[in-house]
Amino acid sequence: MSKSALLKSSLAKKYWMAATGLFLCVFLLGHLAGNLQLFAGGEEGQLQFNAYAKFMTTNPAVKILSYLTYFSILFHAIDGVFLTRANMKARPKGYAYSRPSANSHWTSRNMGILGTIVLVFIVVHMSNFWYEMHWGEIGVDAAGNKDLHTVVMAAFTDPSIGIVYTIGYVLAMLAVGFHLFHGVKSAFSSIGLKTPKTEQAIKVAGYAFAIIIPALFASIPIYIYATQ
Ligand code: HEM
Repeated sequence: MSKSALLKSSLAKKYWMAATGLFLCVFLLGHLAGNLQLFAGGEEGQLQFNAYAKFMTTNPAVKILSYLTYFSILFHAIDGVFLTRANMKARPKGYAYSRPSANSHWTSRNMGILGTIVLVFIVVHMSNFWYEMHWGEIGVDAAGNKDLHTVVMAAFTDPSIGIVYTIGYVLAMLAVGFHLFHGVKSAFSSIGLKTPKTEQAIKVAGYAFAIIIPALFASIPIYIYATQ
């Protein structure tokens, strides 16, 4: 294969990595907005969240977005493995003077590890809630909707395992945050939107997204655990 084709294919990989990553950021915004309803207490909050969960699993347009999300997660993970391996092969070794920490943030050098932690979280997380909603034997609420609200509350307030789930989720959100810390600004650069004019704005917006969104996600299990 010619050198230019190799370059092209690695550029294409970076492009699709960025496109699927940015789509997943949009998913995170929507998912967070839906999950913030878990702060609403009482039976009203329970009915509202379950009606929302029913809409999210039955609406045809949302279903298409869900399939796109599953596809993006798989594609992003597989493409990520290829890119990480290519980067490891290309990395020069054995220089007497090599200080990677002076040239790049540690998150950028550990995107593969951080991504793997996030992927493990997604698998555990989907088996906890998504699988239960679709195929689990869960009860129904007063409106006759599947009672996903009680499943979520029970996970974080269980007397023996609730604290493990809560701490596990908070740690996973740290990994999500660190992954996004490098990922968001890198994605904008890969799709060609980083210019001397936009560079600073992209950096600030990327860092803000990477801190605020995971922090809000983490606040949900903490709130549920603390107010049980
Ligand atoms: C920490 C707070 C979070 C809570 C309480 C939460 C809650 C839920 C619940 C209840 C579901 C099932 C909804 C359904 O199937 O209709 C779900 C699905 C899902 N969650 Fe989360 N989630 C959280 C964070 C995250 C994060 C940070 C990610 C990604 C890194 C994520 C990825 C997903 C995915 C991919 C699905 C399947 C969505 C679909 O079928 O369209 N979640 N989550």
